[in-house]
Amino acid sequence: MLKTNFLDVELSNPLMNASGVHCMTTEELDELAGSAAGAFVTKTATRDYREGNPEPRYYDTALGSINSMGLPNNGLDYYLDYVIKRQKEGAKLQFLSVTGMSYEENISLLKKIQESEYEGVTEFNLSCPNVPGKPQIAYDFELTEKLLSEVFTFFTKPIGVKLPPYFDIAHFDEMARILNKFPLTYVNSVNSVGNGLYIDLDKEQVVIKPKGGFGGLGGEYIKPTALANVRAFRERLNPSIKIIGTGGVINGRDVFEHILCGADLVQVGTTLHKEGVAVFSRLAEELQEVMKEKGYKSLDDFRGKLKVIE
Ligand code: DOR
Repeated sequence: MLKTNFLDVELSNPLMNASGVHCMTTEELDELAGSAAGAFVTKTATRDYREGNPEPRYYDTALGSINSMGLPNNGLDYYLDYVIKRQKEGAKLQFLSVTGMSYEENISLLKKIQESEYEGVTEFNLSCPNVPGKPQIAYDFELTEKLLSEVFTFFTKPIGVKLPPYFDIAHFDEMARILNKFPLTYVNSVNSVGNGLYIDLDKEQVVIKPKGGFGGLGGEYIKPTALANVRAFRERLNPSIKIIGTGGVINGRDVFEHILCGADLVQVGTTLHKEGVAVFSRLAEELQEVMKEKGYKSLDDFRGKLKVIE
């Protein structure tokens, strides 16, 4: 009932982890691979190992989470070795997330992937809000276009981009116009809603240490923004560009809503962090329940079919 195809690979369901959650080490990645998730993505890799920002740097709130991890990761080679090893063991569809600390690093990371044996998907993270002094690339439309123009002079493997949330119709229009110029496999909306501030009232203090307490929001707070981005891009992007919906998935109804807005796959961050990998079987069961109640037999029956009021 939940089966879905991505790049001609049949997945048992459309659920994945969101990059950053439960995917830093090979142990965590093995757990994801062995879970009920249809696929998984690695922690965003930079060229070199990064310690990330000082702790506390992730905080669960009643309605979601705030984080300023600062891209702690084990470096590209660590994740590339892992996915190549699994590929040789027969793994069909894997997602490797990457971002560079500079324009040149972005290009050299993708060249390394292009020249490697890896045949899976690359998720190019253009939206990390948490590295001090480094603005989110995809809020700079000119830079995004320049970078993707250069990437597609040499990169021929499947690749998608992870975007920050946009909040203005003119920005949906402009980013979609840029993305439609390139043979992207998919667009993933959204990364965390950048630079929120959560306060502990008793202490009259912020809850995370980096950047004076500012950090990316996830969870229930961000579902309407995530759905708007999925919907807006599905309406604007070439049909050949798939959409991964990320943000605000707490239960099966949220997964259904992402798919109704046009998501091909749906990623889970904050709720995976709260519940662990058992979340995937719960969400898959709850999604099936919603579909049964509505009389739908497959995801294609309702994908992208959100109604508007005429
Ligand atoms: O919320 C996020 N946190 N998004 C990213 O892209 C990176 C991550 C981090 O490591 O700070």
